[in-house]
Amino acid sequence: MKKIKLSLLFLSLLGICLTGCNSNNIVDDPNNDNAQDNEKNNGENDCENINVSNKAMVVYFSATGNTRRVANMISSYIDSPIYELEPVDPYTQEDLNYNDSNSRVSKERNDPNHLTELVNANFDEFDESKYIFIGAPIWWGQLSWVINDFVLSNNFLDKTIIPFATASSSSFNIGGLKHLSEEATWLEGRRFRISEINEETINSWIDSLNINF
Ligand SMILES: Cc1cc2nc3c(=O)[nH]c(=O)nc-3n(C[C@H](O)[C@H](O)[C@H](O)COP(=O)(O)O)c2cc1C
Repeated sequence: MKKIKLSLLFLSLLGICLTGCNSNNIVDDPNNDNAQDNEKNNGENDCENINVSNKAMVVYFSATGNTRRVANMISSYIDSPIYELEPVDPYTQEDLNYNDSNSRVSKERNDPNHLTELVNANFDEFDESKYIFIGAPIWWGQLSWVINDFVLSNNFLDKTIIPFATASSSSFNIGGLKHLSEEATWLEGRRFRISEINEETINSWIDSLNINF
């Protein structure tokens, strides 16, 4: 009889613990009305450590270093893996001259079939990541097409893409990107002006996503 009582006590305690963990993990959906529950956890909750469903990774292309700085800040804030997309044929300063209609970028922009081939478009942590931050510079008002090979080479079913960009001034619209992966959930994302590249701005943007990374 004493053994049965002890077993019941153990099961009750286990139940309380599991319920406690669950209540903090119903935070997958960024559109969840309980936004305040989704605030970034600062490691105070041990249960968070067993929640693998909100894993994230950062993947980016950067031609002149600005987007790389943002990518590094995101990755250190959420403590995620980070990968740089490297074109097989890297862009030189001359290639990037958007004032020259014969430059590489100008020609690529005008070729509807162009795809910049990447050294690697598949990364180890992809399968287990639910949120994929994808960053690039803005080229002519859109996220640079250098990310296309990565998006087209992976299956984003049940995954959420969070685009981010750097630019002198232009914003971007995900409407022009969604065709790259129809199965993905696309968040609106964010463009950072070069003057906005600092931890305070980037961390507060991540907080505003209300995702418990
Ligand atoms: C080919 C090309 C096109 C660009 N088009 C735009 C644009 O339409 N709007 C804008 O605000 N900045 C534009 N820029 C500036 C870049 O978006 C900006 O410098 C960005 O931060 C570069 O990022 P990166 O250093 O990661 O390559 C362009 C730059 C290049 C090279």
